[in-house]
Amino acid sequence: MSWELSEFGQGLCTGSGIGELMEDLGLALAAGGERMCMLGGGQPAHIPEIDAVWRRRMEEIMAEDGGLERMLGDYEGPAGNEKFRNALAGLLRRKFGWSLGPENVAITAGGQTAFFFLFNSLAGRFEDGRHKKVLLPLVPEYIGYANQSAGGDLFRGVKPRIDLLGEHEFKYRVDFDSLEIDEEVAAICVSRPTNPTGNVLTDDEIRQLAGLAAEHEIPLIIDNAYGAPFPNIIFSGGTPVWNENIILTQSLSKIGLPGTRTGIVIAREEVIRWVTSMTSIVGLSNTNAGQAIMQPLMESGEILRLSDEVVQPFYRDRSDQARALIEKYFDPALPWRVHKREGALFLWLWFEGLPIKSSELYQRLKARDVLVVPGNYFFYGLEESGWAHRDECLRISFTMPEKVVEEGFRIIGEEVQRAYSEGLAPD
Ligand SMILES: Cc1ncc(COP(=O)(O)O)c(C=O)c1O
Repeated sequence: MSWELSEFGQGLCTGSGIGELMEDLGLALAAGGERMCMLGGGQPAHIPEIDAVWRRRMEEIMAEDGGLERMLGDYEGPAGNEKFRNALAGLLRRKFGWSLGPENVAITAGGQTAFFFLFNSLAGRFEDGRHKKVLLPLVPEYIGYANQSAGGDLFRGVKPRIDLLGEHEFKYRVDFDSLEIDEEVAAICVSRPTNPTGNVLTDDEIRQLAGLAAEHEIPLIIDNAYGAPFPNIIFSGGTPVWNENIILTQSLSKIGLPGTRTGIVIAREEVIRWVTSMTSIVGLSNTNAGQAIMQPLMESGEILRLSDEVVQPFYRDRSDQARALIEKYFDPALPWRVHKREGALFLWLWFEGLPIKSSELYQRLKARDVLVVPGNYFFYGLEESGWAHRDECLRISFTMPEKVVEEGFRIIGEEVQRAYSEGLAPD
């Protein structure tokens, strides 16, 4: 007999898209080797120059008097390490001229945890019976938000406008005509660059969203996991913004420290107090390692050099290579399109009129040891159910070794061809 689950338990204990994705990722990494083409997860690449920095920093911490003992043996305050928060605030002041201090910075156990805290404290059920939601102005949006509710529906998603670019590209844009902000909307949230699409919302889109948020006295949450100033995996423009009405989140994962689980919330002091309170209730304290490794790099600005001169060019090259593999392995006569590549670690592909759903394509690829993420997971919070586009997309990560990525694209090209030709076959 199994024990009964609460509403919270039903929501969080019974599996999710992000859970399956992380399990696929863990299994593929554990299996090792090159048999499995893992083009599914958000695992950053192991960039040798970056891995060497972590090794150097660990040696420095070991050599420092009491450095290792402090990192492993101390509970930090729940807002995070004071020196680290100071160093980050200083970096952002110097780089962008933002008026903030350590009191505007809170650390969490990864960006993922920050979102769980933020979404559930701003939206959900209220004492007087009202229910509020987070508005996602451009869906498809990050799969990792989808199942984070501690009770009830948490999201209201809005379909984008689709700009077709040439024969084989496209770009999503916020459809401001469809954005409705009423009493039910507690916050607006976007990832920029966007996971899954690699879209970077334009400065104008961000300005308009920030204006709407301010006008309705709600926060605009900008998830900057791939953005500037670190890891700066942005290939187009896009000015970073922050002010007291914006909650900006950062992460140390995509620059190469996902194992340290370090997320960062940059916000007005009130929000920092909420996050700090939730950290102490849920987890007492944060992980120290990422902060200890990164603090001197923040103080010296080396993190900016690594982001601009190593990380960003690495992923830009990888993105170009992945795009070239599509040209190599996909039939140009088929109606595939790639989202404009503006940042992040993925290509987002749209197969218009695909005779099978992307979830079926995912299964066929998995059977051939290629793991991708079917696009349907990223379309949540939408009222309309009959939108074919949501079952026509795939997210493909290009961070794995080049041979693995090439083999993956070769097989994807074959399976896409097969799926389209089945549609043409007589019954
Ligand atoms: C857009 C976005 N936000 C947040 C996260 C969470 O990352 P982490 O919890 O490792 O900081 C991810 C991870 O893939 C992401 O893609």
